[in-house]
Amino acid sequence: TTVEWEAESYDMGGHDTYMHKEIAEQADAVDRVLRGRIDDRFATVRLGGLNLDAREARTMRRVKILGCGSAYHAGQIGAQLIEELARIPADAEPASEFRYRNAVVDPDTLYIAVSQSGETYDTLAAVQELKRKGARVLGVVNVVGSAIARETDGGVYVHAGPEVCVVSTKCFTNTAVAFALLALHLGRIRDLSVSDGKRIIEGLRKLPAQIAEVLADEPRIAKLAADFADAKSMMFVGRVRGYPVAKEASLKLKEVSYIHAEAYPASELKHGPLALIEPATPTVAIIPDDDLLEKNRATLEEIKARSGRILAVAHSEQEKADDTIVVPRNEPELDPVLMGIPLQLLAYHTALALGRDIDKPRNLAKSVTVE
Ligand code: G6P
Repeated sequence: TTVEWEAESYDMGGHDTYMHKEIAEQADAVDRVLRGRIDDRFATVRLGGLNLDAREARTMRRVKILGCGSAYHAGQIGAQLIEELARIPADAEPASEFRYRNAVVDPDTLYIAVSQSGETYDTLAAVQELKRKGARVLGVVNVVGSAIARETDGGVYVHAGPEVCVVSTKCFTNTAVAFALLALHLGRIRDLSVSDGKRIIEGLRKLPAQIAEVLADEPRIAKLAADFADAKSMMFVGRVRGYPVAKEASLKLKEVSYIHAEAYPASELKHGPLALIEPATPTVAIIPDDDLLEKNRATLEEIKARSGRILAVAHSEQEKADDTIVVPRNEPELDPVLMGIPLQLLAYHTALALGRDIDKPRNLAKSVTVE
């Protein structure tokens, strides 16, 4: 409940920053977003506030997800999950871009606004414009009763608890999991089989313990971060499921450490950014052990040939990388959830090594409620 959140939010619980506290809380937070929602009998989930009946869920033709900053990146993960599990064409776009480009509002599209605070002006304005034009708009929101939660037709609460640090960590993770729930729900109304539904549910149930495992690697990640503190720029690459993870990790590093970073789809490296690779520009590569593993390994070779330093986030040691952070295996669709977490720690420890004001980075606000 909201009251509980406020009491908690002033207590750092023994951590030196809210960012560290919020990263550490993620196993519990994910447990909360799952709690009471899994329906084993039908291999699906129950989302009480969704307000979308099965007929509507079956007839919609597209999903468009809108948000800003980390919420937009979580929305990109969400779009991939909805395409994969529900086979509905889906994509995410920054809410601000959507508002200003006079987008076509289509009656067969389900719109989803994503926001931690539920108060971001660009996202709220996009919701209001969509509603005015008669569109169906749902919310994936953390703060209960916030403006976006009130103005949408229904949605999924993220239940991450209060997030105080300006940069988003646990809410980002929980939002990705909330989208997995929504994608599973839509999938099971459409063509996702019972066995695939069960497979995803098993994967979801494993997440809290696996998150704890990833967090236990913190001392090693802190050491790696010390090496990156003097980088002048960093590159983050990933393919398909790895790409939104790369974008979020790059944003996180920029926000808290002020080190310049770029995220690229690994496949696009050769079309330009490879020119930047040299020893002073390290690369972080997101390499899940999925059907793109060999393609990703080839990318590591391309980087190595330009003597670029590589840190891989993978399911097993990567020979071509200088270092690998190994994360536990889950169902491939859920890889983005676990793979983002060590990179939150990397950003945090890089910023710590540089003495940055981690909870309140310069020029940034927790929620941007003006235009
Ligand atoms: C601000 C924050 C970001 C956040 C974005 C969206 O720019 O600095 O960390 O991701 O707003 O916030 P929301 O509350 O809508 O998720």
